[in-house]
Amino acid sequence: MTRRMSKDGWDAILAREGGKFGLADLRWQDFNKLINDAFYVGKQNGVAVLVKCSSVAPDSLVNEHKMLERCRAADPDVCPRPLGFWMSPDGTKAFQIQELLPGPELKQLLPEGKSRPWFAADMVRMAEALGKAGIAHRDVSIWNMTCGADGHLRLFDFQFAVDAARPQRDKYLKNNPKYHYCTFGIEDEAGLGAWDDAGAFLKALACLPPSPERDCAEQRLAEMRGKTVARLPPDLRERLTLGCYKASLRIQRLFAGGAKRETINRRLGRLSRRTGKV
Ligand SMILES: Nc1ncnc2c1ncn2[C@@H]1O[C@H](COP(=O)(O)OP(=O)(O)O)[C@@H](O)[C@H]1O
Ligand SMILES: [Mg+2]
Repeated sequence: MTRRMSKDGWDAILAREGGKFGLADLRWQDFNKLINDAFYVGKQNGVAVLVKCSSVAPDSLVNEHKMLERCRAADPDVCPRPLGFWMSPDGTKAFQIQELLPGPELKQLLPEGKSRPWFAADMVRMAEALGKAGIAHRDVSIWNMTCGADGHLRLFDFQFAVDAARPQRDKYLKNNPKYHYCTFGIEDEAGLGAWDDAGAFLKALACLPPSPERDCAEQRLAEMRGKTVARLPPDLRERLTLGCYKASLRIQRLFAGGAKRETINRRLGRLSRRTGKV
């Protein structure tokens, strides 16, 4: 079990290393995350930034940085700008700096009636950029999209993204059942262990209010299905672990109410092989 770095530890690292990256005015934001220890918001040379810090899965932050760069090379307007990363010499701690988006997540914007007609086309643009970059994002959802300053959606959270042609097994994902949907895939016609972001975009799209733009995007995303698939079939042990995890979620759901139930349904939905079936 990896020992998570404390707030004091990160404060000290950022005080020591931050200046080299032009970081200032950092404020701790505790998101109580599983693979990130801490998020800070602050300024880099006067520009608002987010700093993600991890001692649980430091490699995933370096991966996020590289994948963001790769995605931006395909299309500069679909994800936040990556602005730097630091890795400790022993490879046990990393932070990553990226453009701070105005937020909040699309998940929060939708119930407030703040969907915009162009969001559907924005999702198609994201899917096309990932396809062009040869990236399987593996965590596409309305929780991982928000508006940029131009009012267009951005996709973030590239920590689990992989080269679609050469997907890697990540031990921090494998060892953490809550993230098994990333390692093993979500519902998809392509089957367990095969990742097709187009399917996840279709799910996100279905959360937008009905419109001609949404219909058009749905058609385009349906055409994209199967074009950029990352394959990483689970072995027998992994299948058993996944089966146990699903069973435990179903049992927990019997006793859960409110927000907890919603979280469980979301997790089961991500693991289900058919849209909407949990
Ligand atoms: N570039 C960003 N700008 C503003 N907020 C962000 C940005 N990236 C992430 N966030 C916020 O932080 C939360 C967690 O970040 P995320 O990258 O999704 O990590 P996690 O793997 O913990 O879900 C997001 O849900 C979002 O609210
Ligand atoms: Mg996220």
